[in-house]
Amino acid sequence: MASKYTVPGLEPGKGQKVAETLQGRLNSLLDLQLTLKHIHWNVVGANFIGVHEMLDPQVDAVRAMSDTLAERIATLGFEPVGTPGYIAAHRTWDDYSLNRAGTQEHLAALDLVYSGVVADHRAAIIQFDDLDLVSQDLLIAQSEQLELFQWFVRAHLEDRSGRIASEGASTEVGAAETVSSGPGSAGTR
Ligand SMILES: [Fe+2]
Repeated sequence: MASKYTVPGLEPGKGQKVAETLQGRLNSLLDLQLTLKHIHWNVVGANFIGVHEMLDPQVDAVRAMSDTLAERIATLGFEPVGTPGYIAAHRTWDDYSLNRAGTQEHLAALDLVYSGVVADHRAAIIQFDDLDLVSQDLLIAQSEQLELFQWFVRAHLEDRSGRIASEGASTEVGAAETVSSGPGSAGTR
């Protein structure tokens, strides 16, 4: 990734570091919006319609976030890449692990997906302290929304004591198994 210019007042080397980190966050958000739709299509069982319909506004919001980051990369003088092959080749995580599965199973797995996205956004925010506060501000605004969406997911997994049913799970399949309730719970791959 090279550039002939970046925004005024930003050293070119810093601009490049910012653009590279933003490309990583763009990969994450493009992957997330497809994963959210995949869940929207494959979720089954009790509370289907609530979960199915909860996800579409998240897709729309995450899609808008990816547009913001891609245009920020271009504004900085670099090339945002949004092709599926590039994302698959450069991401640091595996494809989402569930196909058709129950609502609680998908939500337990999605909680882990959001944990990864939110933690990586926060790491980028901290990195940008010394690089670019304008890009940092974009990620801060997005994190507020992403953390809210994760709460929407977690609220389905939480009991009256505040415990998350899939607490401690480290894989999507493992998280799904902690909340599996039999019928409607097939479909892992
Ligand atoms: Fe739909």
